[in-house]
Amino acid sequence: MLKIEDLKIHYESKKGLVKAVDRVSFEVGEQETVGLVGESGSGKSTLGFGILKILPKTARVSGKILLNNDDLVPKTEKEMQKIRGKEISMIFQDPMTSLNPIMKVKDHFLETIKTHIPGIKEEKAVEMTENALKAVGINPSRMNEYPFQFSGGMRQRVMIALALVLNPKLVIADEPTTSLDVIVQAQILEVLKNLKKEFKMSMILITHDLGVVAEMADKIAVMYAGHMVEFAENEKIYYEPKHPYTKALLESIPNTDINDLTLKYIPGSPPDLADPPKGCRFAPRCPFAKDICFEKEPPVFEVEGSKVKCWLYKGDENGDG
Ligand SMILES: Nc1ncnc2c1ncn2[C@@H]1O[C@H](COP(=O)(O)OP(=O)(O)OP(=O)(O)O)[C@@H](O)[C@H]1O
Ligand SMILES: [Mg+2]
Repeated sequence: MLKIEDLKIHYESKKGLVKAVDRVSFEVGEQETVGLVGESGSGKSTLGFGILKILPKTARVSGKILLNNDDLVPKTEKEMQKIRGKEISMIFQDPMTSLNPIMKVKDHFLETIKTHIPGIKEEKAVEMTENALKAVGINPSRMNEYPFQFSGGMRQRVMIALALVLNPKLVIADEPTTSLDVIVQAQILEVLKNLKKEFKMSMILITHDLGVVAEMADKIAVMYAGHMVEFAENEKIYYEPKHPYTKALLESIPNTDINDLTLKYIPGSPPDLADPPKGCRFAPRCPFAKDICFEKEPPVFEVEGSKVKCWLYKGDENGDG
């Protein structure tokens, strides 16, 4: 249902062009959840904002974002307003910045509903609000309260309800649980998991935490420094990771084994995206890097059903590498 082709999102800045998302291609199927993982600054939010076209004016976008074969890239702001909320909606990391503190919870919903369904009867819009709140486990009687009267976890539930009230086909959730404690985080993930089934929607779940996507995602896309280095089925990422960065990321998950409390990390740091290495962007930190890795950007090879952007797999490909 969503197909991204060769998407580039570069920001103009004083340092030059920041290549935050570079030649990224992937797909999200009907009712499928894709986990988008990668460390801070790898371009995850940029990609999410890019799909909804809510980027700052300094962003330059090229490539295709096909929603059911309809390219969003050339669409005008007016056309996008019809798509946002109704076809694709977003759940942001920090609900306090996206909810208006001086607006009752109910009015956030009514505003969204009325924008997309002009002329809708007040009672019908209120009923939709009640149903959405119930779906995330909030008593609808609380809709007359203000966002600050809710706890962090409750606010995130309100945000989720708001994102789902128009029954969109695709939801992009950008670190929806990062600001919450682990217990509330687990509850919110459970809510998302159930809603996904109930509303039959597709989801892009953005997180830096491979643990979060483990049970939520059908497929996982791994980002490194603006490149999508691996895209594969969930199990393949965990049991047969192919890209050296994916492997390193998995090894750096803290374990609870009392006999092995060494914390593994990836030496070095990600490149400056205004001046990235000309070959593979991970090469300077990669223990397997060969000469070609420093010289030429690797294409995407298809290896045993996984898509891997890495020279190590040249010759192993069985597809459109
Ligand atoms: N408006 C902007 N102008 C210039 N550079 C930007 C802008 N917004 C983001 N960037 C840069 O683009 C890169 C990707 O940022 P992005 O926020 O997409 O990363 P992220 O993966 O979401 O990180 P995090 O996990 O910290 O949220 C970073 O290097 C960031 O500094
Ligand atoms: Mg982000």
